[in-house]
Parts: sequence; C-alpha cells; structure tokens
Amino acid sequence: MVVSRALECNRLNCENKLLREELVKNFKLKEIIGSSGKMMEVFEIIKKVTSTDVTVLIQGESGTGKELAARAIHYNSGRSKGPFIKVNCAAIPEGILESELFGHEKGAFTDASSRKTGRFEAADKGTIFLDEIGDMSLGMQAKILRILQEKEFERVGSSQAIKVDARIIAATNKDLFRAVKEEQFREDLFYRINVVSIKLPPLREKREDIPLLFEHFMHKFNKEFNKTIEHISLEAMELLMKYPWPGNVRELQNVLQRAIILSEGKIITNKDLPFYIQFLDSEIKLETESADFSKSLIETVKDITDEVERQIIFKALKKTNWNRSETAGILKISRKSLFNKMKRFNLIKEEE
Ligand SMILES: Nc1ncnc2c1ncn2[C@@H]1O[C@H](COP(=O)(O)OP(=O)(O)OP(=O)(O)O)[C@@H](O)[C@H]1O
Ligand SMILES: [Mg+2]
Repeated sequence: MVVSRALECNRLNCENKLLREELVKNFKLKEIIGSSGKMMEVFEIIKKVTSTDVTVLIQGESGTGKELAARAIHYNSGRSKGPFIKVNCAAIPEGILESELFGHEKGAFTDASSRKTGRFEAADKGTIFLDEIGDMSLGMQAKILRILQEKEFERVGSSQAIKVDARIIAATNKDLFRAVKEEQFREDLFYRINVVSIKLPPLREKREDIPLLFEHFMHKFNKEFNKTIEHISLEAMELLMKYPWPGNVRELQNVLQRAIILSEGKIITNKDLPFYIQFLDSEIKLETESADFSKSLIETVKDITDEVERQIIFKALKKTNWNRSETAGILKISRKSLFNKMKRFNLIKEEE
C-alpha cells in the first residue's frame, strides 16, 4: 500500500508539473509567471478576453504585473500585429494630456507649430493602454467616455471627427469603486471600462509562486549578468517566503537581481539578501508611537534609527555567538567601528 501510494503521489506530482510547465510555456513568451490558484484565475480571464475586443480594467497594487498583463492580452490577441500604445495618465501634465491623446492641428495653441497625431490615432488596429487611469482628471474622463461611446474624437483645434479602431485596456492601483463613491471618478466611465476586470493579487497573497518566480528570475539574471547561480539555500528561501513584499513582484525581482549580482558561489544564501530581509526574524519595530513631538523631526528620527541600528547589531552578535570579527564581517563594517558602536549602544553579552 505504501509503495502504491508513493507511486500514485509521484504520478500526480508529475502530472502537476507537466500542467505547470504547459502553462509556463504558454505564458513564458509574455513572461507572466505563476501557478497559484489566484494566478490561474487571472490566466483564465486573460485567455478569454484575448479572443474579443472588450475593454478590460486591470487593478492591483504597484508592482503586481498590471502592465505585463496588458501586454499579454494584446500580444495574444488578434491585434498582436498592430501597435501597443501606452499612455501614463498620471505622468503627463493635465494641460498636455488632451493633445497627447487626441493630437492637435497646426496652430491649435501657441506651441502647436505643426499638426500632431495623438496616441489614440497611433493605436489604430492595435491596443491603447491607459495606465493609472484613476489619476485622470474629471474633465479628461468625460472625453475618454465619449471615445468609448462613439469611437470617435477630434484633434485639438479641429472639428473633424476621427474614427479609430483601438482596443482599450486600462489599469490603476487605486480602488476605483471607492473613487466613484467619493466622486473622484465618473460612474458612467467606470462601468464602461470595467466590462471585464482583472484583479492582480499582491505577492503576499500568492506566496506559493515565489519558488517559481525565483527560478524565472534566476535564469533571466544569470543570462543578463553572465552568472551561474543554480540554487537558493533553504534558509534564504524561507526568508523570501516570510517577507511581506510591499513592492510585490517588482520588489522581489530587484532583490533577486541584487542577490545574483552579489553572490559569489552557485547558491544564493542569506547574506546575499538585503538587511531588512535577512533580519526579518529579529522583530525590529519602528517605534513611532513614542514620538510625542517634544523633539525636532531630525532628533526623533535619529532616536528611532539608532534603536534599529542597535537591534541589528545585537541580532548579528547573537548570530555569531559574540564573535566580533565575524560580526563585523557580516555587517560589512570594520572591527573598530563595531567596537565603537557596541560601546555607544551599550551592547554587552547577556551573561556579562
Ligand atoms: N507574474 C509575474 N511574472 C514575472 N514577472 C512579473 C510578474 N509580475 C510582475 N512581474 C515583473 O515585475 C515588474 C513590475 O511589473 P509591472 O510593471 O507590470 O507592474 P505594475 O502593476 O504595472 O506596477 P505599477 O503599478 O508600479 O506600474 C516588471 O518588471 C514585471 O516584468
Ligand atoms: Mg504599471
């Protein structure tokens, strides 16, 4: 029974792995990695919308892969040979956004020395990606609404309507539903763009994807930086699994890039990770509660960072069993500087 159960288990594992590889292969081209339940749901929706032209709203925290998902939809759709035009609605100044999107005629305003085609026109037969749409002014929202309804617009300074055939994908890291309630976002526009919505989960809610993401970034950065990393230590992986990842996949990518550059062997270990991840277990808390405004900002911040520094050194000393050379080594400071800091922070061995 034990043997047959083991065989069955192995078979299921293999099957699982195959299915996963299949999916990874499918989306590897577009570089979206994930095998968690939440990402499977995302893949399902992406697959469904690629065969249509519906407007898609992608929501998710910063660094969760919204742009990646938008590109995946475009490049897997019938429009893949057409252009993918990205507009960052938050980065373009309000006054310029209109002519950026719709273009302008020569002489439409003081600086308009020649006619300019807008991004909507450029996106004809392709996809226009309206990034950070939650940051668009109410006035611009009205204009976008019109395009969605009538599929036409005018260049600034012209009265001739232009028709375009562009698929619209919008993304935001804001809670648009709440913005609607707070009257920061037009309700009619919200329902227009939210025909299909994709919610990208934050990394902390799909931690099971971290090993797969590690593999992906390991291969990517090995190639990019000519390295030959093969593994990650169990301890280091445990830290990655525990860290809350406020910057999501982008933060993980940056941390791994740095680790792969720094690593000297074939294995990523704790010491290749940034301090705030290495010392995750040390329960360092930023005690901002105690700030009572009796001191200046600079003094208050210094008190708090001193305490953090003290705790990190203490943690490192405990880790090396109070071996000063080793501690100085892992903290990458000189022995003398460690000694001075120990004196300053009154760090002495517990039994002493
Ligand atoms: N599932 C994933 N697989 C592989 N790489 C990913 C994944 N999700 C995100 N990334 C990578 O993380 C980085 C951030 O992704 P992206 O720019 O799509 O995020 P975003 O949600 O648009 O972030 P922001 O709100 O800050 O603009 C990119 O380099 C992207 O390639
Ligand atoms: Mg983005």
